Amino acid sequence: MNIAMGCDHGGFALKQEILQLLAEGGHQINDVGCDSEASVDYPDFADKVCAAIQEGRSSCGILICGTGIGMSIAANRHRHIRAALCHESLTARLSREHNDSNVLCLGARVLGVAIALDVVRAWLATDFAGGRHLRRISMMG
Ligand code: RB5
Repeated sequence: MNIAMGCDHGGFALKQEILQLLAEGGHQINDVGCDSEASVDYPDFADKVCAAIQEGRSSCGILICGTGIGMSIAANRHRHIRAALCHESLTARLSREHNDSNVLCLGARVLGVAIALDVVRAWLATDFAGGRHLRRISMMG
């Protein structure tokens, strides 16, 4: 699976941990930045991850900022992007099963590393359930 990864300065350190997890899992990674803890603007990186998904270069994406809120707001402005801000594995799993989320948003200032990695594992391991849920996400275009 090719996974697009983006963060702002608040999410940089957690992104490094997640990159390692994904590499160990054998995933292809499209890291769109940022590349340090120098201050940047999160919408730029949400745009890059969403473009990678919309253009078929990545099948899904992970976005990290301080709270995850800015990234989720920015990502959900993009057509066919269903970004889910998750703080634990249950909502991560249900966002895949019920909402076919294609972007996972994380708050690096909210989550510890172990919980964040657990959320990522749960999200990646879960498939969309389809059925009535397909009708509902189709209603959103
Ligand atoms: C950056 O200071 C912070 O605002 C950002 O990482 C994020 O939390 C925004 O939602």
